Amino acid sequence: MVNPIIVALDFRDLRDAVAIARELEGTVGGFKVGLQLIMGHGPTAIEDIAGLGLPVFADAKLHDIPNTVRGAAEQLFKAGARWITVHASGGAEMMEAANEGTGGDGVLAVTVLTSMDGPGLSSVGVDGRASAHVSRLAALAMDASVEGVVCSPQEAALVKSEQPDLTVFTPGVRPKGSSLDDQARVATPSFARAEGADFLVIGRPITRANDPSAAAAEIVSELNE
Ligand code: C5P
Repeated sequence: MVNPIIVALDFRDLRDAVAIARELEGTVGGFKVGLQLIMGHGPTAIEDIAGLGLPVFADAKLHDIPNTVRGAAEQLFKAGARWITVHASGGAEMMEAANEGTGGDGVLAVTVLTSMDGPGLSSVGVDGRASAHVSRLAALAMDASVEGVVCSPQEAALVKSEQPDLTVFTPGVRPKGSSLDDQARVATPSFARAEGADFLVIGRPITRANDPSAAAAEIVSELNE
């Protein structure tokens, strides 16, 4: 079985990210390099983490005109990313441009951020349930032929049933008893997998644990139960 845990390396300093990635590389399935590291260190952040050998998820959450997104996607791929993210709300043409930038592989469309709930969505003009919006954006992502989507564990089953060909990545994962931090739509690792998530993106419950590799190992064993 592919190890489904992608650890979100949300650090200011690339050296801290590399150190923790080294500590975790035997226990997890991949690493996510997000905006903080990409903005602070540029493509080097992706290159250095990819150099450790596990697949890298470059979470740049691109959202711009298609031509700009095509170019940015190409750069992220060139740096060694296995997956890159774009916002599905940028539209089908923009997602297709991202696919062109990577040569057709590894584009993931972010549906609704897991930090957004009903009132947050309504404040940006999206009325109705978050799940209805996720469903709409996943259908658009499928039309644009991307590899997968990012959604909350609470919508994983819905997306898998409606778009079985999309690989589903879920952040907003919190083992029992850990802090929610700023996440709103969360679930446990085993719930997320049972709902059909292919990969779990987990950050602070692992990286801020007193013993990160023990925290990761505990999640892996929960999933194997
Ligand atoms: O620390 P935590 O487990 O909350 O980290 C979750 C990671 O997933 C963060 O890096 C965040 O940027 C990312 N993410 C998210 N919601 C999305 C897409 C990505 O929380 N919809």
